[in-house]
Amino acid sequence: MKTLTAAALCVLMILSVCSRAQATAAFDLLRASAVSYAGSLPCGDWDCECAFKRQQGCCCIEQPLFDLEEATFIRMVGLWEGLSHLNTQIEELTAGCKIAFTASMLPMSGCLGPFTSNMSISYQSVSLNQGNGYNPALGTFTAPHAGLYSFSFTAYSSVGSAGQRLYQKVQLMKNGQLIASSWEDNREDSEDSSTQTVLLQLRRGCQVYVELLSGRQLCGDTKGQNTFSGYLVYPFSDK
Ligand SMILES: *[C@@H]1O[C@H](CO)[C@@H](O)[C@H](O)[C@H]1NC(C)=O
Repeated sequence: MKTLTAAALCVLMILSVCSRAQATAAFDLLRASAVSYAGSLPCGDWDCECAFKRQQGCCCIEQPLFDLEEATFIRMVGLWEGLSHLNTQIEELTAGCKIAFTASMLPMSGCLGPFTSNMSISYQSVSLNQGNGYNPALGTFTAPHAGLYSFSFTAYSSVGSAGQRLYQKVQLMKNGQLIASSWEDNREDSEDSSTQTVLLQLRRGCQVYVELLSGRQLCGDTKGQNTFSGYLVYPFSDK
């Protein structure tokens, strides 16, 4: 390397002070020094051994290309793994979020109530219970997942003939707290029906149910006309 550097320095000196013929001689000297150089070439990562000595018929960037391909492949495998992990998470999340139920009271001939205390109504005829949040024995929906939920109930009662007292009050409860209610107290109508719909933000484990108030009653063959249903509009994170 020293010889090359010395020759280059010579050339620079000669170029700055000498004639064209002398410059040509200096280049010849530089070339001769380069050709006879036998040490290893200081090329860093670049394969200049190849570039200088084996250029014909050989691809001198073969190794860097191979390294690049290898690095790209490893990166792609990483991305692919990340993507399938994400996919699994999305599937788990959406599978856990199919929550919907609808149930109605069983047909009856007499009246439900009156009771001495507020009594939760068990809508026992279940036509849908995705996510198993609804318990027909208790009439209680327990949120399997935190989120915004929609609930509806319809309260129907028929006392048979006008002049009898239609006297009912039904209320939607969330963990013991009154949310919405529907009531009737008159002797003009023999039957009546009303529906309430509410949106509720629930934490996982929150309980929602419908109560018949103490002293009141639901009468007549309700034929599935007293219903309670709900569904998850969208989930929240529980954190
Ligand atoms: C029944 O519900 C009514 C109306 O929400 C309420 O005023 C009353 O305190 C409740 N009774 C009991 C025993 O919880």
